Amino acid sequence: MSKPTSRAMGHSHTLQTHLVSPQDTNHLNTIFGGNILAYIDEAAAICAMRHSSEIVVTASVDSVDFHASVQKGEIVNVEAWVASTGRSSMLIYVHVSVENPLTQEVKTTTTSFVTMVAIDQSGKSTPVPSVYPETQTERDIVMLAEERTSR
Ligand SMILES: CC(C)(COP(=O)(O)OP(=O)(O)OC[C@H]1O[C@@H](n2cnc3c(N)ncnc32)[C@H](O)[C@@H]1OP(=O)(O)O)[C@@H](O)C(=O)NCCC(=O)NCCS
Repeated sequence: MSKPTSRAMGHSHTLQTHLVSPQDTNHLNTIFGGNILAYIDEAAAICAMRHSSEIVVTASVDSVDFHASVQKGEIVNVEAWVASTGRSSMLIYVHVSVENPLTQEVKTTTTSFVTMVAIDQSGKSTPVPSVYPETQTERDIVMLAEERTSR
């Protein structure tokens, strides 16, 4: 099956949900930062695989900003979008929010940019479709990525 030359951001938008259990937390009852990083890496990889229809590897974690902590018993929502593409690389924007199931309060806890590279069966980098936004949220993400790379 031939691959498209371009795909909508919505095609690969990825959402994962996790419940924070006692074993995920430190002595302050807040989640280990490493768990959030693992969630980010997995969501970014799934998003990049959906976009490229290829196997992908993490080339770099370009930025991670922890804005707020996450408590035991809270719900973590991890969302990933392809923000831009190169020949074989995909810049993935990951937004992590936390939801208190009792109060329904939702807040942003972490934001991250990750570069994923599509590879073929021999482990060499392989081309990916370009990406285009369709919604205002997606256009904002593209702009965020452009601002970041022009810094
Ligand atoms: C990522 C990897 C495939 C790149 O290999 P390479 O020989 O540099 O490949 P290429 O020169 O063809 O570059 C491929 C793309 O990767 C990008 N790239 C390479 N290293 C990068 C880095 N450190 N950060 C961001 N992008 C990178 C290049 O810019 C290029 O992008 P483009 O095709 O969109 O222009 C290779 O370094 C690798 O396999 N790394 C290990 C990945 C891994 O195991 N990750 C899990 C870590 S636990």
